[in-house]
Amino acid sequence: MKIGICNDHAGVEYKFKLIKMLNGRGIEVVNFGTDTTQSVDYPDYAHRLADAVESGEVDLGIALCGTGNGMAITLNKHQGIRAGLAWDTPIGVLVAQHNNANVLVLPARFISYPKASAIVRKWLDTPFEGGRHQKRIDKMPCR
Ligand code: RB5
Repeated sequence: MKIGICNDHAGVEYKFKLIKMLNGRGIEVVNFGTDTTQSVDYPDYAHRLADAVESGEVDLGIALCGTGNGMAITLNKHQGIRAGLAWDTPIGVLVAQHNNANVLVLPARFISYPKASAIVRKWLDTPFEGGRHQKRIDKMPCR
């Protein structure tokens, strides 16, 4: 399992902590984010992560910005991306179960690190349910 992670200046601290947590679970992490708190533009990093997920360079992605919305909006411009914003663990479960999100987006300025870590673990440990949810996902692409 290889996970790509990206962030803007708002998500640097959580990014490094999440990498450590994921490495501890034997997961390889590729860093597509900025490593400093100097102000940057989140789309530059979101597109890099989206390209890596779409090409298969990584299996899944995690994106962090202040609210999560900038990353989510940008990531979801890519046809191969299903980026889901989660701010609590039940949403981390549902975004896997129902939406089969291949990128999990976290609002770094609005949740604690322990919460962010718990959401990531729930998302990773929860299988997609398929069935009626797959039917809905099949209707997502732009026409
Ligand atoms: C950066 O200040 C902030 O706008 C960004 O992290 C994110 O919240 C955008 O959606």
